[in-house]
Amino acid sequence: MNAASRVHVELGDRGYDILIGSGAISEIQSQLKSMHQSGARRAFIVIDTGVPARFVDQLTKIANDAGLQVSPASITPTEHIKSIETYQRLLEQIASTGHSRVDPIIALGGGIVGDLAGFVAASYRRGVPVIQCPTTLLSMVDASVGGKTGFNLQIPNDDGSTSLLKNLVGGFWQPSLVIADIDALHSLDARQRRSGLAECIKHGFISTGVGHGHLLDWMIEHLDAIAAFDPPTIQELVQRNVSLKASVVALDEREDTSISGGRMLLNFGHTFGHAIETIAHLTPDLTDPSLAPLHHGEAVALGMLAACRAAEHASGLETSTGDELYSLLNRVGLPTRIAGLPSNEELIERMSHDKKSTADSIRVIYPIGRGRCSVVDDAKAESISAGFDAIRSE
Ligand SMILES: NC(=O)c1ccc[n+]([C@@H]2O[C@H](COP(=O)([O-])OP(=O)(O)OC[C@H]3O[C@@H](n4cnc5c(N)ncnc54)[C@H](O)[C@@H]3O)[C@@H](O)[C@H]2O)c1
Repeated sequence: MNAASRVHVELGDRGYDILIGSGAISEIQSQLKSMHQSGARRAFIVIDTGVPARFVDQLTKIANDAGLQVSPASITPTEHIKSIETYQRLLEQIASTGHSRVDPIIALGGGIVGDLAGFVAASYRRGVPVIQCPTTLLSMVDASVGGKTGFNLQIPNDDGSTSLLKNLVGGFWQPSLVIADIDALHSLDARQRRSGLAECIKHGFISTGVGHGHLLDWMIEHLDAIAAFDPPTIQELVQRNVSLKASVVALDEREDTSISGGRMLLNFGHTFGHAIETIAHLTPDLTDPSLAPLHHGEAVALGMLAACRAAEHASGLETSTGDELYSLLNRVGLPTRIAGLPSNEELIERMSHDKKSTADSIRVIYPIGRGRCSVVDDAKAESISAGFDAIRSE
């Protein structure tokens, strides 16, 4: 293995390391051996079917060598599969193996597998250890760090249709280790890579406000190498993004609304993005409807742009922030306009279902300058509409 970068999440006795590097998966061995010495005899591995078989084989062998009997469970991830039914299936599978309270769950996959496996770990026998092995760029830079776990919920509407509400059920459950083996990214397709870059850009747009002010400039300076997925640059990209997320999580583990500069800021683009992410016919490419639905990062990209334009309407934010975002999204090939959006009224209604909103007001994150965002508790409908109009294409 090349030298792995190590980032620590400072959370006292719930603190943990994140290892990032080529071949880093082999580093899981010492953790599994120490778990074995403490009485662990099994490992339940939740496997994303998109992960190349050689990673699954390698992880299984390492666990076996550490003295653990492996039980695998596979998931082919979609937002509809991130459901209560899949959660129940995983619980039934793990219970049938005789998995004890000291046995680890290992999540090997993208953010959907990580969120589901993490919530099984949070709730099975009131909590068992979980090791996150993220295999998409998005899950490496964001989803695997910070302990947010859960699944989506499908609820009936008055008109007989249903709505899929993102991440409505879940809990905070910190992993005991995160291993980001950047070799896993070789098999990731270009669209999934771009999706991960959206969360990196999100971090750039809050970076100054959370004490990582160099991140946005570093990404812009290295954008060609990032877009080409140059391995050393990607390792540094993951390390820089994870460092930002780790410090925000250390300051505010459970998204406390009273902490300014805390986890709420990581939701930049998400309240707008979640309103469009689960609309099945939306496509990131105006000329290709077969690409529907949006990936999470694509929805976040559009959501961030809508939030910038909404902030211009709400608070007179200089257009330069939104213009810089627009240009960055274009350069990496993320969407900036979308056809087939429902009416603003319907979108605002969808936003009010988002769990970041409160009973009678919509909470959003608006930029207040370059690299800085702030929480707005009661966003005005006219400003939100201006945001959606700016990304709307007929
Ligand atoms: N918990 C958090 O803090 C947090 C943060 C951000 C996003 N999320 C969640 O993460 C999810 C999105 O995660 P994602 O972008 O990783 O999507 P995903 O989990 O759907 O994975 C994307 C695709 O990549 C495939 N894949 C995974 N690893 C691969 C590999 N190495 N090579 C080839 N293909 C591979 C998967 O099979 C899937 O088809 C959303 O549900 C989102 O809500 C959670």
